[in-house]
Amino acid sequence: MVASSREAPERWPEPWWKLLGPRYGHVLHSLCSYMGSFPPGLPRYFIEQFTEPGDTVLDPFSGRGTTALEACLAGRVGLGVDLNPLAALLTDVKTDPPSREACLQRLDVLERTYTYAPVGDRCPPEISLLFEERTTLPQLLHLRDNLDATERTDRFLLAALAGILHGHHTRDVENSRCLSVSMPNTFSMAPGYLARYIAREGLRKHPFDAFHKLRARVWFEHAQGLPARRGRGLQGDARRLGAVVPPGSARLIVTSPPYLNVVKYGKYNWIRLWLLGASVQALDASLDVQETDRALGLSDKLPLRAWKTFLRDTLRACAEALTDDGVCVVAIGDVTNAEHGDHALALELWEGVRHAVPLQLRAVITDDVHAGRKVSKIWGEARRGRATRTDRVLVFQREGAPWRAPRHPSPEALLARLKADNGAPLGVDGARKALARRPRRAMCIPTATPEVG
Ligand SMILES: C[S@@+](CC[C@H](N)C(=O)[O-])C[C@H]1O[C@@H](n2cnc3c(N)ncnc32)[C@H](O)[C@@H]1O
Repeated sequence: MVASSREAPERWPEPWWKLLGPRYGHVLHSLCSYMGSFPPGLPRYFIEQFTEPGDTVLDPFSGRGTTALEACLAGRVGLGVDLNPLAALLTDVKTDPPSREACLQRLDVLERTYTYAPVGDRCPPEISLLFEERTTLPQLLHLRDNLDATERTDRFLLAALAGILHGHHTRDVENSRCLSVSMPNTFSMAPGYLARYIAREGLRKHPFDAFHKLRARVWFEHAQGLPARRGRGLQGDARRLGAVVPPGSARLIVTSPPYLNVVKYGKYNWIRLWLLGASVQALDASLDVQETDRALGLSDKLPLRAWKTFLRDTLRACAEALTDDGVCVVAIGDVTNAEHGDHALALELWEGVRHAVPLQLRAVITDDVHAGRKVSKIWGEARRGRATRTDRVLVFQREGAPWRAPRHPSPEALLARLKADNGAPLGVDGARKALARRPRRAMCIPTATPEVG
């Protein structure tokens, strides 16, 4: 469906980025999985269409930093804002990554200064459940205690460690990427459920060497080179962008807000948040639309209504952050909710808030997402408020701004170029091959298995 203004060309409002294919994307995107992330081709498509090198590109709900990293890779300044400290960290380290050498040297120091100490009561029982306690967990605690979250190289290592903290084992268990018992990588199962799951599946804790696996990850993530431009990831509230982003500075915003009452970014990241020393409960409370509802003093308990208010405030903040000729792209999935039925949420939202937001809608691009690839598939069909198969991408400009035509009226040529010289030829597959060619010496600094007495 296309709902464009009179001047908008007819061909471009299609989900052209899908032609880049599911494997498109620089390997740094895979540093740490994150629920509900963009495919990298989506923000990249709009960055190429609506910005020039050197422009600032902003994502006020930056998540794992997909938009900001794609902006930096394209020679733009990528800025990401997110309330979740994990998201802010991921965005920051991807847009300003230290060199591989700096990471490996720092890891050597961390490994040299490690001496085994029993875990004792140094971590909560739900963490002890997940990691082997003679090798892996003491090393993990050493890294957690000594990585300095204010220092650039340490921040990258912390983000990479978050990425390998938990995940499924491969058939060749020793070469699995992650440190935990075999469990999903994308999200953290609830602690109570995990205990039952481990018992039921008879899962074993393997003595994985955390230094060894982190070193392998550093090699992997640097296999494709670093972005041309640098950017920032900041912790902040999308409704109050002015506190962290200068007004009138973003030539483009590409973002996707939290789903309507679907993902609890604290609860589903509790293991990674433990690594960062962040409070899961405090985070969920600050991200919860029901809490927003209460904070706004609304008696209405409908999360849908609170969500619309939340988005209205965010869109106002986005309008303020844009340059006069800036473009704002917002992707929102439809949802089905037992209480409220099917919602073409993006359009419903815009109808509800258009009179209170100084933006004009230029186009709507409808993207039929394959149901099996959506984050909500993990909850099955019974879950209330689940997302459905259709995403809608709304393209806005500031009210009164003249129509900004996309730079590439024939997207085929643009996409062919992107495919040829960016992620597609290398991407994750290429990084795997490059990793296989790394000097083995760098991987094999032995860590003595501690004496336990
Ligand atoms: C759908 S995700 C965005 C994913 C992102 N597009 C990516 O590619 O990774 C929504 C994000 O909104 C964040 N969030 C929720 N409430 C927020 C708020 N008030 N201000 C800023 N970020 C918020 C969540 O932490 C989550 O990372």
